[in-house]
Amino acid sequence: MALMGSDELIVRLMLTGYRGLVRPVLFAAANGDPEEIHSQVIALLSELPDSVLLRLEALLGERRNPIEVAGIRFPGRVGIAAGMDKDGTAARSWAALGFGFAELGTVTAHAQPGNRQPRLFRLPHSRAIINRMGFNNAGVEALAARLDQWGVRRGRNVLDLPIGVSIGKTKVVPIEDATDDYLTSLRTIGPYADYVAINVSSPNTPNLRSLQARDALTGLTGALVSTARELDPGNPIPIFVKLAPDLSPTDLGNMIDVCEEAGIAGLVATNTTTAREFLHPSELHLASQAGGLSGAPLHRKSLRMVEAAARRTRLPIMGVGGIMSPADAQHFFDAGAALVQLYTGFIYNGPALVRGVNTLTRPDRVQR
Ligand code: FNR
Repeated sequence: MALMGSDELIVRLMLTGYRGLVRPVLFAAANGDPEEIHSQVIALLSELPDSVLLRLEALLGERRNPIEVAGIRFPGRVGIAAGMDKDGTAARSWAALGFGFAELGTVTAHAQPGNRQPRLFRLPHSRAIINRMGFNNAGVEALAARLDQWGVRRGRNVLDLPIGVSIGKTKVVPIEDATDDYLTSLRTIGPYADYVAINVSSPNTPNLRSLQARDALTGLTGALVSTARELDPGNPIPIFVKLAPDLSPTDLGNMIDVCEEAGIAGLVATNTTTAREFLHPSELHLASQAGGLSGAPLHRKSLRMVEAAARRTRLPIMGVGGIMSPADAQHFFDAGAALVQLYTGFIYNGPALVRGVNTLTRPDRVQR
């Protein structure tokens, strides 16, 4: 057996413990209902007292390879992806778990219940998830109030990591009125978020992805960037755009052109896919479930999108999609991502994966 470094040994031990002990319990709990256990874990994280958070931080919270992106100092390269902590209730815990940033949300201007349950499906043999949550959230004002209560302000690092907030369109608002809806969210959350990500790529809100088309995106990004400048002329909040993995090369090129012209700060690539490739044969019966697929089957698609985007633009990229191992994260860094985010990989591998990504020794692309 080759000699292992201590970092690698710790990651292996953590991974074995999580997969062997923690994950089986979590996956079986609440009668195996994935949404229920998700809510319970988020509730548990949100109730941890400071004393426990401090201990967790000592155990798991070491971040490495800090970087400045879009004027924000990130203490580590790996963030929690949007959707995990939609209402930001667990936001105090992400730094202690080793994350270098947290993208809260997606929140919408108005609170909404999301789609009917069941709407979240685990595909363990495929190391994947299918979800059609539909932006269930308590609304942007509730998130702003929560952050306010903790004393969070943009740039102050109160939670020991940068806070991004993903904003989306309220379902009942017609697509023609989407811009105003996003602007309401931006104005409300602007004082609290270090960056805002515009979600125009969820497959679970009817017509949302049509906002990725050139004209619609030009209007939306132009309005958001100019409002960000009005809100804080000296230091406008950076606005990122989150892309779908299902874009054609032409659409991707058009979107990048629009983002550059509008003054968008960076890209998040990617959201979940509507494709159903690379599923394990035993889980093909779930392929017909409507929604977005995430996890291992998405990896190659997201990576291709990051590669294509990085070839075309110097805008910073947050890579997300099927990062299930530190090696997967390395692929994204090699492709040009400055930062990465986890959702499904964190569900399947826990904090070991966060630590593994933190301990990568060369997260910067060698040449660009
Ligand atoms: C998501 N994702 C997501 N993205 C987003 O921008 N806003 C959201 O509200 C959500 N909600 C959400 C819920 C669930 C249950 C999942 C599994 C995913 C997408 C997520 O942030 C990420 O882009 C994709 O899941 C791909 O990354 P992973 O999961 O393969 O690491």
